[in-house]
Amino acid sequence: EQIKKGSYDHFMQKEIHEQPHSLTTTMRGRLKNSGVILGGLKEHLKTIRRSRRVIFIGCGTSYNAALAARPLVEELTGIPVTMEVASDLLDRQGPIYREDTAVFVSQSGETADTLLALEYAAANGALCVGVTNTVGSTLSRRTHCGIHINAGCEIGVASTKAYTSQIVVMAMMALAIGSDQLSSQARRESIITGLSSLPSHASEVLKLDSEMKELASSLVDSESLLVFGRGFNYATALEGALKVKEVALMHSEGMLAGEMKHGPLALVDENLPIIVIATRDTCFSKQKSVIQQLLSRKGRLIVMCSEGDISAVGPSGSCRTIQVPEVADCLQPVINIIPLQLLAYHLTVLRGFDVDQPRNLAKSVTTQ
Ligand code: AGP
Repeated sequence: EQIKKGSYDHFMQKEIHEQPHSLTTTMRGRLKNSGVILGGLKEHLKTIRRSRRVIFIGCGTSYNAALAARPLVEELTGIPVTMEVASDLLDRQGPIYREDTAVFVSQSGETADTLLALEYAAANGALCVGVTNTVGSTLSRRTHCGIHINAGCEIGVASTKAYTSQIVVMAMMALAIGSDQLSSQARRESIITGLSSLPSHASEVLKLDSEMKELASSLVDSESLLVFGRGFNYATALEGALKVKEVALMHSEGMLAGEMKHGPLALVDENLPIIVIATRDTCFSKQKSVIQQLLSRKGRLIVMCSEGDISAVGPSGSCRTIQVPEVADCLQPVINIIPLQLLAYHLTVLRGFDVDQPRNLAKSVTTQ
């Protein structure tokens, strides 16, 4: 076990730091200058393009990865995308049709809720696509087609490198489905360029490790942590909070910043730490106004912003910042989650909890 962890103390730590490599293996052989090649989808692209909607289905981190990719799939394909937590779809027996493409996302490919949702969608005639890290898994065998994320074996119960590889695979899927749309050719090419430089940006953002350790020590005694995101980074807020609660055993909620004034604002005071994700994208000015509203209520803010953007997000010295490299807006969630993974990791170590086997959790939830 020690050999497999190499120089790292925990698998979660190793897997966070492996991301420049896992992202590379996810994209290997799949990116071309003018498009992407996804062998597993090739035969089905025409059917997917004719779908009435795409439904993303998953649980936990895999659901969050799909949520991160949703805006890009909508933008590049023009097909409406709906999101389903697998257990909720089953509870409601939600409507699924033959004209739907159902995309099942699961690191393990063995999650019971996701597999039951797959059985349900297949019985209703949908085209079922799998996105998994596990070759030969039940998910990869039972779907009509799919894409392996090739992130390498993930051992820590907290999913880290699979999350970023899942987002990249679904971004590539959006590029492949939308490749017949001439009007977005330039946008697709800029995303492909952005994908190729993601591993080096991931290496860069990992340099924040000691800064995140220091931030963790300032938050170690907090009872709760809120994370506000929107647009491409709503998923980052949910996923960052999920990491903190599942391993550091600290209450944490990811929230849609657009919903702040509809309730969560009442929680704001000088003590509750709030991370606001305000990297550059079309939601930036709205996030700036969220920051202003929180500061005017004396909120204890930690702002995640693009490198060199500190003065743009608020008056100098008004809040702590986490500065991350700027990448294509739709790929920014891949970079933004990494400091939050590091934060969750260091909080867990400082609070003395088991990093790789969090209380009450299993790597793969094979029962309903
Ligand atoms: C991730 O950190 C969690 N342990 C959990 O939410 C997990 O993502 C979920 O159980 C789904 O697992 P899967 O991707 O293997 O289907």
